[in-house]
Amino acid sequence: MSIFEQLTQLQKGAEEKIAAAVSKEELEGLWTQFLGRKGGELTAILRSVKGLDPQERPLVGKVANEVKGAIEGLIAKRQELLYQANLEKRLSSEQLDVTLPGRWQEPGRAHILSQTLGRIKEIFKGLGYSVMAGPEIETDYYNFEALNIPANHPSREMWDSFFLRPGLLMRSHTSPNQVRVMERQDPPVRVVCPGKCYRRDAVDATHFWEFHQVEGLLVDERVTFADLKGTLELFAKAMFGERRRTRFNPSYFPFTEPSAEVMVDCFVCEGKGCRVCKNSGWIEIMGAGMVHPRVLQGVGYDSERYSGFAFGMGVERIAMLTYAIDDIRLFYEDDLRFLRQF
Ligand code: DAH
Repeated sequence: MSIFEQLTQLQKGAEEKIAAAVSKEELEGLWTQFLGRKGGELTAILRSVKGLDPQERPLVGKVANEVKGAIEGLIAKRQELLYQANLEKRLSSEQLDVTLPGRWQEPGRAHILSQTLGRIKEIFKGLGYSVMAGPEIETDYYNFEALNIPANHPSREMWDSFFLRPGLLMRSHTSPNQVRVMERQDPPVRVVCPGKCYRRDAVDATHFWEFHQVEGLLVDERVTFADLKGTLELFAKAMFGERRRTRFNPSYFPFTEPSAEVMVDCFVCEGKGCRVCKNSGWIEIMGAGMVHPRVLQGVGYDSERYSGFAFGMGVERIAMLTYAIDDIRLFYEDDLRFLRQF
């Protein structure tokens, strides 16, 4: 085969292969195959030109260079074509219909109980209290004994509890945290402890077997009942409005002496009497009292030197009063129609 025939054949082969190539990589491979410096098919032919009759050389060289130019041109053209095709494919497959309505993502919100708890915590943080949490599974010691509630004491009836086994229960109030905090630090103590509590109560509009409380505790030298009154009065105003008045009714809790039931004048009827305050004009918002000396002694505090007050409120109850919610079960049913209102 003459060298011209070889060149013609090579060009034909290259044309076919280039026309069939479908990717950039494939084209690059063809470039190497034909024009590569080492082992390129055309390169090899060009090298053999040296061995030719000197008269033939210029013509062969010219033709070979034309073939080279043709192949290069074809590869470039094919490359441009593939690029355009690919671009068009992407443009049509990644097309966005900007006229479609957007997918609405409903923003989440904090559960009404979390919101209420948040407000309570903020008020006490503003008074210099820190926030602490304790375990939901408690020992009999922390839930009762250390709070001056011995075994078989009739007051245990106030807390009908879920026992996991003798001596271990789901805490029935947040008061055990008082003991846990005091065991860990010396006075002064100023802390609120929010948390979930559990009681074996029959479920009705105002009772549920799980609920939340916020416990408060302040211990220092010369703390008096007046400090307790001042603090809770301030809380009631911040929580329920500046016009609120508070009242302290005598009550009984084993871990406080004296003990009180804290009342605010009804913010629904302004004290005139309505369904929320059961026509009394007053609403109970929490239990409170001066920490019993035995509780202080139990954690090794000097009860002659230190005194303190404590209080405990139900978060569900506070939320129900604030938003006129008449059934505690609504908090736990996850019904969005209810939850979206807050
Ligand atoms: N722990 C009480 C309860 O669950 C509430 C309570 C009353 C807490 C008086 C206190 C307190 O800290 O001083 O019913």
